[in-house]
Amino acid sequence: MQDYQPLPGLLKNKVILVTGSTSGIGRCAAKNFAEHGATVILLGRNVKALEEIYDEIVQLRLAQPAIYPLDLARANPDQYVEMAKRLEENFGRLDGLLHNAAQLGTLTPIEHYDIALWYEVIQINLHSRFLSTRACLPLLRKSPRASVIFTTSEIGKTGKAYWGAYCVSKFGNEAMMQILADELDNTGIRINSINPGPVMTKLRAQAYPAEDKSNLATPDDIMPAYLYLMGADSQHLNGQSIDAQTYSHFPEATTESIQS
Ligand SMILES: NC(=O)c1ccc[n+]([C@@H]2O[C@H](COP(=O)([O-])OP(=O)(O)OC[C@H]3O[C@@H](n4cnc5c(N)ncnc54)[C@H](OP(=O)(O)O)[C@@H]3O)[C@@H](O)[C@H]2O)c1
Repeated sequence: MQDYQPLPGLLKNKVILVTGSTSGIGRCAAKNFAEHGATVILLGRNVKALEEIYDEIVQLRLAQPAIYPLDLARANPDQYVEMAKRLEENFGRLDGLLHNAAQLGTLTPIEHYDIALWYEVIQINLHSRFLSTRACLPLLRKSPRASVIFTTSEIGKTGKAYWGAYCVSKFGNEAMMQILADELDNTGIRINSINPGPVMTKLRAQAYPAEDKSNLATPDDIMPAYLYLMGADSQHLNGQSIDAQTYSHFPEATTESIQS
């Protein structure tokens, strides 16, 4: 993973929507995309936290970001259409979409899983990704080369006791990614997924409260894989699921990547 050295202008002039950009991996990805030239649209439910990351990017004198407050647990289909409309009015197109926002829910046997919580986790982790992709596809088509990334998990590859709605949602993400990649093959839109691996975040601490955090990767550690999938160096990849902490097939960054 560490072998990939993206060029500073990798995402120059790209417009990228990052869901769940208020903390953890999403926050770090939004900042990294901006540092590599992108105009990032920061989506989250907490306006104060969105304003903090917005200010941080502005203070670094990077491309001016935008904030889009949306509670993915409660947004209805029309609100996603409205979001796409607003993005079109302001930016004209979308070059990247990082589906990152998620909630763990609870670790409990399915027999005892709270029904309202199950619905909420599936809504945030799966349905919102369907609704936002569906609404944004016309905007992604307006980009000469768009990249959509679904954030998955090890838990989305093998069912594991007590992981309930989170596990089901992550399996669903892999399926949605593969379906979309097949449907959009040979178009200007690539669809891939990324498994961050164990990373020190709020969500991880909720899942493993007692674990020793000293050996955990930080969000910054896994950014090369995010930049790689979002940028033109991975333009040959479609329908792939990559592990952010072990992926090692990075090509050398080329100057072409900053011109695309
Ligand atoms: N950390 C790991 O070890 C790990 C491993 C595998 C996969 N992942 C995946 O990585 C992604 C990022 O997670 P993370 O570890 O960075 O966790 P995190 O720090 O908890 O970040 C989750 C983000 O999702 C947002 N979010 C949650 N519910 C939302 C809602 N209803 N509406 C809008 N935004 C909402 C959160 O906003 P608030 O701040 O408002 O809650 C936050 O910005 C997730 O898809 C997760 O499944 C993480």
